Formats: sequence, structure tokens, C-alpha cells
Amino acid sequence: MSANPAAAKSVEVPMRVLSGVQPSGRPHIGNYFGAMRQNVELSRSSDAFIFIANYHAMTSIRDRKVLAEYTDGLARDYLALGLDAERSAFYRQSDVPEVCELAWILTTVTPMGLLERCVSYKDKVEKGIPADHGLFAYPVLMAADILIVKSTTVPVGADQKQHVEVARDIAIKFNNTHGNIFPLPNERILPEVAAVPGVDGQKMSKSYGNTIEPFEDEKSLRKKVMAIKTDSKGVAEAKDPETCNLFALFKLFAAPQERDSMAARYRAGGLGYGDVKKRLADLILEHFADARKRRAALTADEVETALRNGAEKARKVARATMQEVRRAVGLS
Ligand code: ADP
Ligand code: TRP
Repeated sequence: MSANPAAAKSVEVPMRVLSGVQPSGRPHIGNYFGAMRQNVELSRSSDAFIFIANYHAMTSIRDRKVLAEYTDGLARDYLALGLDAERSAFYRQSDVPEVCELAWILTTVTPMGLLERCVSYKDKVEKGIPADHGLFAYPVLMAADILIVKSTTVPVGADQKQHVEVARDIAIKFNNTHGNIFPLPNERILPEVAAVPGVDGQKMSKSYGNTIEPFEDEKSLRKKVMAIKTDSKGVAEAKDPETCNLFALFKLFAAPQERDSMAARYRAGGLGYGDVKKRLADLILEHFADARKRRAALTADEVETALRNGAEKARKVARATMQEVRRAVGLS
């Protein structure tokens, strides 16, 4: 017997990993180091479910063209970065509409208080962003994503930890009310990646307009890199790499040897920021060269086929879960 009463109620299933990403804009280098790279790795190392959370993105995007463009763009980005769509199930959330049915069923066992405590909802309300029901119910939809494929392991950043805890609470509620159907999901917190700085030195973020995007055209990318903010020290002066956001970006792309010799050149003086920027732009373009080529060569058909195959895999599991759920609650 387990000492943990919640664990005792869980349903025994093999580990199943699931990760969701919102198509909320064109991804930038911060997203790449903070999330995308890890998801690509996941798709290669396990039979993971990785999906584009376009239902979730509807809580912030109300323009159909924009939503479709970001969804398609993100699928391309992931495939270009090497996501293994054969091994994993890579799909659009909206291609598995069963998730919405489950979300409704889960709302009937979700206490209001559980959602009222969710920080992401509270934050938005405090910032004066008008709250609609979609924003409030967001964690229930996320619970449905997780539970419909009976996922046990959800790798997320610290900001999403609470949502996975809510999914676990909802699973317990459901199991207690209707019988043990769902294994209890656990969050696996991703190793914290130091925030990648944007061109203005703040954390790189879509909302600050300070991003560099792995797939933007070369001219625009170089222009942004040349505009990275630095202090105003002259070429001859010694500089401190540790406090320089240009160097913080540089060290993400440079091999250790080049990183160390660049740090030494900073400290010695005689190095201009313009030269560092030129080298950084080259390194970024080199880092993403293969992915950029692959992205340009991907046809609409290839993207669609990958997503359809992924949806088929996910839907097979989702339909089986929904059969159990419908029977358990008295809908069939
Ligand atoms: P944004 O701030 O641009 O809106 P999101 O909040 O959509 O980015 O983040 C999506 C994912 O990318 C999250 O997992 C987040 O932790 C990661 N991420 C976003 N910005 C950065 C950054 N500057 N450095 C590292 N990781 C980041
Ligand atoms: N809410 C997550 C985010 O904004 C995206 C997401 C939706 C998700 N459903 C999920 C993440 C299920 C993990 C599991 O990043």
C-alpha cells in the first residue's frame, strides 16, 4: 500500500508524456531555448504526445487568419527543428475535438474555488484584462488535454505547474465520483533555463517586441542583432562579459572555446561591440541553417500529413478514453 492516499487511487499505466504549446505568436530564440528544444528532444526519445494548443490560444487570439497562421507556422517550425512526428504523436488540439467534450464533463466535477485560485487567471484579472469564461475555464481544458490520453507525466515550465496540479485534483474528483478511470498526472518541471534576454536587455518576450526569431529573414535578423543594446564603452575600454546582454546571447550560440576566448577579449579591451554583434548574427544563422533550409523546403502537404497522422494516433487513444468516460457518467 502506498503511504500517499492520492497515489493509492491512481490507475496503473505505463508512463506517458504529454506536452502542449500555444500558437500565440511567431516563436523567438527565448522560446527555442526555454521550450522548443526540449520538446524536439522529447519527440525523439519517447512516444510522447506533443500538440499545438490552438483551442487554448483562442483565449487571446480572436482573428481567424492570425490563429491559423500561427498554428501552421508553429507546426512548420517544430518539424523544421527536427521534431520526430513518426515516433511521437504531433497534432493540432482542434483535430481531437473529443477534448472539448471531456472538458465539459470535467467542469461538472471542478469546484469553482479551484479555478479561482489559479494564478494565471488571477494575474490577468488584476492587470485589467477582461475575463471571459474561456480564460477562467482554461485549466479545465488543459486537464482534458492531459487526461484524455491518460498522460502521467507533463513536462512544463514552473509557470504551468499549478495547472498540472489542478488537472490532478480534477482527476481525483472524477475518479472519486465516477470510478477510477484516470491515472493521476504529475508535472515534471523542466530544468530552469536562464531567461534569454531580448535586444533591449529585458527578458525576450513577444509582448515586449524585443525578439529575434530563428526563422526570420536574414536581413531582418542581422538588423536586430546589430541593434542589441549595450553600454557605451569605447573599443579600447575593458568590458565585463558577465553583465553584458550581448554576451549572454553570444554564449548560447558559441562553442565553449569561442565563448571563453570572447570573454577574455572583453576583459582585455580593444574589442568593439559591433564585431561581437556581427559574429553573433553569423552564429545564429549557422545554428539554425539546417532548420531554416528544412523549413523552406517543407510543403503544405507534408505539414498537413504529419499533423493528420499525429491526430489519428491521439484520437485513437482519446476515443477509447471517451467511451469509458461516457459509460462511467451515464451518457451511453
Ligand atoms: P512570450 O513571453 O514571448 O509570450 P511564452 O510565455 O508564450 O513567451 O512562452 C512559451 C515558452 O517559452 C514557455 O515555456 C517559456 O518558459 C519559454 N520562454 C519564453 N520566453 C523565454 C525567454 N526569454 N527565455 C527562456 N525561455 C522563454
Ligand atoms: N497552458 C500551456 C502554456 O500556456 C499550454 C498547454 C495547453 C499545455 N494544454 C496543455 C501544456 C497540456 C501541457 C499540458 O504553455
